[in-house]
Amino acid sequence: MAESLATIRGTKAEQYRSLLPQIKALISDETDLIANMANVSAALKEQFNWFWIGFYLVKKEELIVGPFQGPIACTRISKGKGVCGSSWEKAQTIRVDDVNRLSNHIACNNLSQSEIVVPIMKAGKVQAVLDIDSDKKATFDAVDQQYLERLVELFSLE
Ligand code: SME
Repeated sequence: MAESLATIRGTKAEQYRSLLPQIKALISDETDLIANMANVSAALKEQFNWFWIGFYLVKKEELIVGPFQGPIACTRISKGKGVCGSSWEKAQTIRVDDVNRLSNHIACNNLSQSEIVVPIMKAGKVQAVLDIDSDKKATFDAVDQQYLERLVELFSLE
């Protein structure tokens, strides 16, 4: 396992291309999901310094907050509620440029302005979601979606 992360400056795609192999090295020899989620949220924070980065895990009929970096967050989210619950229900990535214009948004923190939620799948079912919030509007685009979807495929869910 790498002991430190090499962060770079560059375009968004360049930053992801530098980060993804490091994340792969970081988590590929570790089977513990929570440990891997903790390190992935820390690695994304180090490289991109977004406002909130973390995971919600599907447990029974709710999402429950898992490892994250950033301010304290909502603990439980129902299916279909908010951006996270919608991403779970639809099994799709959802990007929101301005959360203030979305009625179905759960404001864990008023500073959040834009958001991307990426589902983590196993055997066709959503097991968890990666949720990233920015304190600036329209932070996440198709490049983020492409690389973050690739990133979550690195998780080996038990
Ligand atoms: N805004 C999310 C809730 C989780 S927090 O942002 C950490 C949502 O609408 O699902």
